[in-house]
Amino acid sequence: MKKKLIIILIVLFLILLVPIPFHLKDGGTVEYRALTYQISNVHKINTSSKSGYDTGVIIKILGIKVFDSVKESKNMNKESSNIDNSYQGIDFDIDSKQVTLNSGYKMPLNGIGTYSLTGDTCYKAVSSALDSGVRLIDTAYMYGNEEEIGKAIRDSGIPRNEIFVITKIYPSQFDRPKEAIELALKKLDIDYIDMMLLHHPGENDISAYKEMEKYVESGKIRSLGLSNWYVKELEEFLPQINIMPALVQNEIHPYYQENDVIPYIQNLGIVVQGWYPFGGRGHTSELLNNETIVKIANNHNVSAAQVILRWNLQKGVVVIPGSSNPEHIKENTDIYGFELTEDEMKEINALDRNEKHDWY
Ligand SMILES: NC(=O)c1ccc[n+]([C@@H]2O[C@H](COP(=O)([O-])OP(=O)(O)OC[C@H]3O[C@@H](n4cnc5c(N)ncnc54)[C@H](OP(=O)(O)O)[C@@H]3O)[C@@H](O)[C@H]2O)c1
Repeated sequence: MKKKLIIILIVLFLILLVPIPFHLKDGGTVEYRALTYQISNVHKINTSSKSGYDTGVIIKILGIKVFDSVKESKNMNKESSNIDNSYQGIDFDIDSKQVTLNSGYKMPLNGIGTYSLTGDTCYKAVSSALDSGVRLIDTAYMYGNEEEIGKAIRDSGIPRNEIFVITKIYPSQFDRPKEAIELALKKLDIDYIDMMLLHHPGENDISAYKEMEKYVESGKIRSLGLSNWYVKELEEFLPQINIMPALVQNEIHPYYQENDVIPYIQNLGIVVQGWYPFGGRGHTSELLNNETIVKIANNHNVSAAQVILRWNLQKGVVVIPGSSNPEHIKENTDIYGFELTEDEMKEINALDRNEKHDWY
């Protein structure tokens, strides 16, 4: 009897280890194994490259679903690079200018932020960014410009799957999340939303996030994330949700560096994106004229803005500078042709003043 039971248990165990393929709408497949015991080689994801997925490994920690990509074909650990590789699991690839999110999707490393850009100014800024090769756009319900962004995307003629759009729902919407998500989908009118964030912590944030999870299941939202979530907030939030956030967007610039928060988030396999890279309007001049940054810019024959963006990339942080000036927009994309030395990175790291420029 005991022997029989042991055999049944062994068979059950083996069944749980067998990968079950799930077919994705775009032709790819995801293999799912029910039993997970290690953060490696647990689930495999294989899809067509067109789909925006990558070959990778899916992991599950404490019931939270995480996709993690295989890094064998990438050169994250190049000896010549100054990128901080102490964290594992995020394929932040400066060469391809893309990061593979834990949702399996790829996202560009640089984009355009659209806070305070409205109406025609916003439409023109986003059109100009798309013309300059920018493929990542950050917006929010709060910015009141989702319609203009959707129109600029549709008018661009660029295939939808080449553009990555992030929008956010605001705490004032958290008690009616379905309505908020439907509104964003309607205003953007671009078939699906690449990533939706909760704008900052607030009442009902868990239930709002769970509603967004349902839209991931239906494919109308592809990846989820949070904005203005720090260590304590993440510690409280993560055990209560089912889909691991793919991204956290927080204030990050040389005067507010979040040097403790960034590695914490990255070690969870979550990509960090920085807002106010130039300090935000009203603060940009002080930052862009900082002696150290200007000196480093002169070393490389680039602008202070480009140095700040590059410093972010080399810390594994995605950048979304805001601009309505086509020259600046173009300049802000040109951040891949030089590399800051270790000493230069240290010099900028030393500028930290823990000086927050906004309240959340
Ligand atoms: N999640 C959140 O809570 C949150 C909060 C704030 C912002 N954000 C996001 O982060 C994005 C970035 O922040 P932000 O746009 O407010 O501030 P920012 O990117 O730090 O600064 C924007 C300012 O920098 C100037 N600028 C841009 N490129 C420049 C260049 N190459 N040389 C000189 N000046 C340049 C812009 O002026 P010109 O127009 O003249 O170029 C604008 O005045 C926002 O747009 C938004 O998408 C998110």
